[in-house]
Amino acid sequence: MRRIEGYVIVSADGMIADAKGEMPDSIRNEADQRFFQNALDSVAAIVHGRHSHEGGPRAARRKRLIATRQIAAIAPDPAYPNSLLWNPAGATLDDALAALGAPAGTVGVIGGTEVFSMFLPLYDAFHLSRAAHANIPGGRPVFTEVGPNATPEDVLSRHGLKPSPRRELDARAAVTIVSWKR
Ligand SMILES: NC(=O)c1ccc[n+]([C@@H]2O[C@H](COP(=O)([O-])OP(=O)(O)OC[C@H]3O[C@@H](n4cnc5c(N)ncnc54)[C@H](OP(=O)(O)O)[C@@H]3O)[C@@H](O)[C@H]2O)c1
Repeated sequence: MRRIEGYVIVSADGMIADAKGEMPDSIRNEADQRFFQNALDSVAAIVHGRHSHEGGPRAARRKRLIATRQIAAIAPDPAYPNSLLWNPAGATLDDALAALGAPAGTVGVIGGTEVFSMFLPLYDAFHLSRAAHANIPGGRPVFTEVGPNATPEDVLSRHGLKPSPRRELDARAAVTIVSWKR
């Protein structure tokens, strides 16, 4: 059985990065990082775009697919061990995971905008952390559909996901998490 789960921290206005594509310190949080890194320790494989990466000391051990249009389908990644470059237009997720040698289990989707959006019809769960004190005007949204008329919650709800109760990750920093489930 394959599960697909997404992980993100957004600003109050639903952004994952600033206009230059950099993740500002205002949405970085230690408690959220602990939750995120621990969750990634038990996934079968991670999927992210070419400009994203979870970082941290355990990253090299994790199997990953890096989405890019620079190759036709699937290719070795000279930069990272345990990784493959993957063009979703040229190979299915299942084929890419098989080529990666990923065991059965959860696929962790960690961004950015286009990659989060591509998996919207498929998420079994999407873990939405929010740094309520941060705003990133003109930033990169978590999903392409987020804008003046749609919050991340609106988009998740449109795609059939339902919120679990909100949990506090860091009260002083006003960082909370809601796991949306299908
Ligand atoms: N707050 C958070 O939780 C969070 C989460 C994730 C990322 N971020 C931040 O967001 C920023 C990067 O986000 P981003 O959205 O700009 O970049 P991204 O998704 O990491 O990378 C974009 C690149 O991924 C490839 N790509 C994306 N969608 C694809 C598709 N459907 N098919 C094939 N290739 C695809 C393309 O690579 P090619 O150009 O090679 O074709 C594209 O240029 C970074 O600052 C990162 O730290 C924050």
